[in-house]
Amino acid sequence: MTRVPLKNRTIWITGASSGIGKSMAEKLIQSGNRLIITARNENALTAIKKAAPDQVEVVVADIADPNSITHMQERLEAVTDQLDTVILNAGTCEYLDVGNYDTDLIERVIQVNLLGMSRCIQASLDLLKSSSTNPHIVGISSAAALTGLPRAEAYGASKAGVVSFLESLGLDLHRYGIDVSIVYPGFVETPLTDRNDFPMPYLMDADTAVSLIIDGIEKRKIKITFPRRLIWSLKLMAALPEKLRFKAGLSMVRDQG
Ligand SMILES: NC(=O)c1ccc[n+]([C@@H]2O[C@H](COP(=O)([O-])OP(=O)(O)OC[C@H]3O[C@@H](n4cnc5c(N)ncnc54)[C@H](OP(=O)(O)O)[C@@H]3O)[C@@H](O)[C@H]2O)c1
Repeated sequence: MTRVPLKNRTIWITGASSGIGKSMAEKLIQSGNRLIITARNENALTAIKKAAPDQVEVVVADIADPNSITHMQERLEAVTDQLDTVILNAGTCEYLDVGNYDTDLIERVIQVNLLGMSRCIQASLDLLKSSSTNPHIVGISSAAALTGLPRAEAYGASKAGVVSFLESLGLDLHRYGIDVSIVYPGFVETPLTDRNDFPMPYLMDADTAVSLIIDGIEKRKIKITFPRRLIWSLKLMAALPEKLRFKAGLSMVRDQG
């Protein structure tokens, strides 16, 4: 497998203000890349830039805003004339309480995780096409996309949507020489999972997760999955005959009072 090192590349990373995105931005700065970092929290992004002012540009944006595409595209084109790697990591998670069914919640999550990702692609596609060094789009989905899980009506649907979206995009962008990779992390310790009030099997720290993601990106894996034991359990569950899979899913439903 040909390795394309993440060194001396111009990389746009969304969701860089905290968690996986922040840790990834810090690692990619250390390895000598030029970074453009995006999120809503300007202070957090500016703090990252302060550590390496010559290597980092800040583009503040709310990717859930339908009007954000033009703004992001203009700001990106103001700071660079090409992008080698785009890491679409920004995301959110809200769990549905089916007793208080709420379509607004589902819309909020899909606006960020799926439509926000599409807005970022639209804003960066011309810059990716201008890259002369194997352009690459990397989208962060989730292990939760592998099978239906309780309370994941919004998050699971958004992340399964991301998988389908990126699989199609990978086929259609092949003619432009743009690779597309999909990341399926299990549980990673970040502000997003700090809110979870249930046991998280095989929880890993953000630095370990980021090392695995960077390794997968450099190997140009189409699918980057971890941790292995969680992924295999979910894949096994997804492969069960329907009735058994349903029973396995039911065993995870908890009383919502
Ligand atoms: N942690 C896990 O266990 C886990 C597992 C599987 C997948 N993932 C995925 O990994 C990605 C990163 O998650 P994380 O765990 O690192 O969570 P996190 O610490 O909450 O980080 C989420 C990032 O997304 C940004 N973001 C959220 N809404 C945004 C919006 N509307 N516009 C622009 N940026 C927005 C946040 O920045 P601002 O708030 O500053 O905008 C933040 O930088 C997400 O896609 C998540 O679904 C995480």
